[in-house]
Amino acid sequence: MITFRISGRFSEKSEIICGVGAFDALPPRAAEGAFVFTDENVQSLYGETIRSRFPDAPVYAMRAGEAYKTPETLFALLGEMARAGVRRTGRLICIGGGVVGDIGGLASALYMRGIECVQVPTTLLAQVDSSVGGKTAVDFCGVKNLIGAFKQPAKVLVDPVFLKTLPDREVRCGLGEIVKHAALDAALFDKLSANREKLFDPDFLAGIVPENIAIKSEVVKADPHEKDLRKCLNLGHTTGHAFELLDGKLSHGEYVLTGILFEAELAKRYTDCDEAYLEALKALARSALGRTPALPPAREAAEFARLDKKNGAGGRVTVTAPVEKGEYVLLDIPYEEYVRALAEIQEKLC
Ligand SMILES: NC(=O)c1ccc[n+]([C@@H]2O[C@H](COP(=O)([O-])OP(=O)(O)OC[C@H]3O[C@@H](n4cnc5c(N)ncnc54)[C@H](O)[C@@H]3O)[C@@H](O)[C@H]2O)c1
Ligand SMILES: [Zn+2]
Repeated sequence: MITFRISGRFSEKSEIICGVGAFDALPPRAAEGAFVFTDENVQSLYGETIRSRFPDAPVYAMRAGEAYKTPETLFALLGEMARAGVRRTGRLICIGGGVVGDIGGLASALYMRGIECVQVPTTLLAQVDSSVGGKTAVDFCGVKNLIGAFKQPAKVLVDPVFLKTLPDREVRCGLGEIVKHAALDAALFDKLSANREKLFDPDFLAGIVPENIAIKSEVVKADPHEKDLRKCLNLGHTTGHAFELLDGKLSHGEYVLTGILFEAELAKRYTDCDEAYLEALKALARSALGRTPALPPAREAAEFARLDKKNGAGGRVTVTAPVEKGEYVLLDIPYEEYVRALAEIQEKLC
C-alpha cells in the first residue's frame, strides 16, 4: 500500500491510500456517523461490498452520468443527509467516478459549512485525476463545473479492485489523463511505451495508478492555488477541449488523446523538439485511442480554444506542448495562425 499526503488551499491535509485493500483501510470507527453517496451503476455492481463495509450507513445513489451533475442532484443529496440526521462530526463517503466525487465533495463542503469527506474513486479517471486536488463542482446554466469549491477530502482510498468492471470506454477516459501524465514524466512514458498492448489490462493499470497519483499530487502540492505550474496539466486539453465543446460526440479521454496528437504536431512546427520522441508519444496516444476518431473541421474547433478563459487572451491561444521526454513548453500562438496550423495538421493526421 502506498500513501501520499497533500495539503489544500487552506492547509487542510489529505491522505491518499493506494493499493489492493485500500477500500478497507478506514478504521471501523470511521463507519460511525457515515453517509454513503454513490451512483446507481456502482451500487448495482458493488452494493453488497458497500453494505458489508458500512452496514449502518444510509446510502444515496444518484442516477449515473454527467447529465445528473446538477444542483438538483446536489440538493437531493443534501436533503437525504439532513433527513438522515448527519451531524457536524459525521463523514460523507463518496464511492464512484468523477461525477460522484465532484458532487459529493461539494456537498461535504456545504453541509453544516463543511464536514469530513472520504473519496473512494472507482473509475480510472477518478483514481488518477479527479480525486486528487480537492476541486469539486456541479454543472449549471449549461456551463460545466460553474458552481464549485475547493475541498480536500480527509482521505482518498484508491483500490484497484474497482478497475476490473470498467468498460473500455471508461478506461479510455482515464488513459487520456495517463498519456498526458506520461508526456510530463519520462519514467512513466517509458513504461507505457514498452507496454502499449497492455493499456486496457486492469492488472497493468493497477500498477501504474500510484505513479499517476504521484505526478498529479506533486503538481497540486507545488501549485495549490492554480497559478502557473498547473498549466502543465492542460497538455492535450487546449485543442482537445476545443473539439469537445464543438462536437461532444466522443468521450473526454478521446478528445484529450486527439489533442495530444495535434499539440505534438504544433510542437514540431514551433519548437526545436525531439521529433522521434514526439512520434513515439503519438504512437502511444493512438494505441490508447484504438481508432482514428471522426472529427469536425479543426477551423471551427479553434474558435472554442480562443474563447476558453484558460487559453485565449489578446487574440492568442496558449498551448502546453510536449517537446522532449518529460518536458513541455507553453506556446503562445496568434489565433489566426493557430487556426491555419490546426487545419493543416488535421489534413495530415486524419
Ligand atoms: N475534480 C477534478 O479535479 C476533476 C478532474 C477531472 C474530471 N473531473 C470530473 O469527473 C467527471 C468524469 O468522471 P468519470 O469519467 O469518472 O465519470 P462518471 O463518474 O460519470 O463515471 C463514468 C461511468 O462509469 C460508471 N462506473 C463508475 N465506477 C465503475 C466501475 N468500477 N465499474 C463499472 N462502471 C463504473 C459510472 O456509473 C458512470 O456510468 C466529469 O464530471 C469531470 O468534470 C473532475
Ligand atoms: Zn481532462
